Amino acid sequence: MTSKLFSLEGRTALVTGGGSGIGQAIAHALSDAGASLVLVGRREKLLLESLNGRSGLPVPVDLMNDTACAAVHEACENAGVSPDIIVNAAGLNPRKHADEVTQDVWQQTIHLNLNVPFFLARMFVPHMKAQGWGRIINIASLQSSRAFQNGIAYGASKGGIAQLTRAMAEAWSGDGINANAIQPGFFPTELTGPVFADEKLAAKHASMTCTGRNGELSDLAGPAVFLASEASRYVTGQILPVDGGYTAK
Ligand SMILES: NC(=O)c1ccc[n+]([C@@H]2O[C@H](COP(=O)([O-])OP(=O)(O)OC[C@H]3O[C@@H](n4cnc5c(N)ncnc54)[C@H](OP(=O)(O)O)[C@@H]3O)[C@@H](O)[C@H]2O)c1
Repeated sequence: MTSKLFSLEGRTALVTGGGSGIGQAIAHALSDAGASLVLVGRREKLLLESLNGRSGLPVPVDLMNDTACAAVHEACENAGVSPDIIVNAAGLNPRKHADEVTQDVWQQTIHLNLNVPFFLARMFVPHMKAQGWGRIINIASLQSSRAFQNGIAYGASKGGIAQLTRAMAEAWSGDGINANAIQPGFFPTELTGPVFADEKLAAKHASMTCTGRNGELSDLAGPAVFLASEASRYVTGQILPVDGGYTAK
């Protein structure tokens, strides 16, 4: 019974940012639970390395392009795959002070972190509706609900993704499509390079948690499989902190 609840056999999970960091960790967890993968990112080499013998399709695309969501959908159609789990993990954090954020930087951050999760997911909603089952997992942030230094554009996009998650759930859960977000604490990835390069800062963040440490990418596996599977069938519109208790303290 338990293994069936968490099984992803027969499912196809599309993961943006699946070539590195959090997206890769989630993709591997979903694949280990039985899902086929579609991995999206700019660097094809990373996507292929990430697949490394797993069942899946690499889709090298720059999601910053206006036509990118349609191109990803077309690549899936051409390959005969129909994703029913979408994980929106591609993201950027420009780390600029409010006084220095240009319009370009602002728009790119909002586009990749907020517009793409909505318009990409919507491409696959008709298929999910037709089969009466789907899962959308967005990646929120501590900055979804609090302000960090030099985080104005990133924080605005991540505040938006939390509300987008609730609104997606409201729009689509009646059709069997659950939308939730994982809200990570601090995990060592390319994106958080500047945080982990500063030992004092990394230690400060670890001390803010209840567990006394920052995240390890494997900490994301259980929550991701839960939110992607039948186990979470009555869970939707929620933001799940995976942060060692950072937000509990
Ligand atoms: N690490 C943390 O502690 C943390 C905490 C909270 C939230 N997050 C969120 O987690 C998500 C993943 O970040 P990460 O920490 O795992 O960092 P990461 O390893 O740098 O992942 C970012 C991913 O986004 C992809 N990407 C960036 N720009 C893209 C574009 N224009 N088109 C297509 N793909 C693009 C990158 O692939 P390419 O460069 O090959 O395109 C990369 O795989 C982000 O949404 C981030 O905000 C991370």
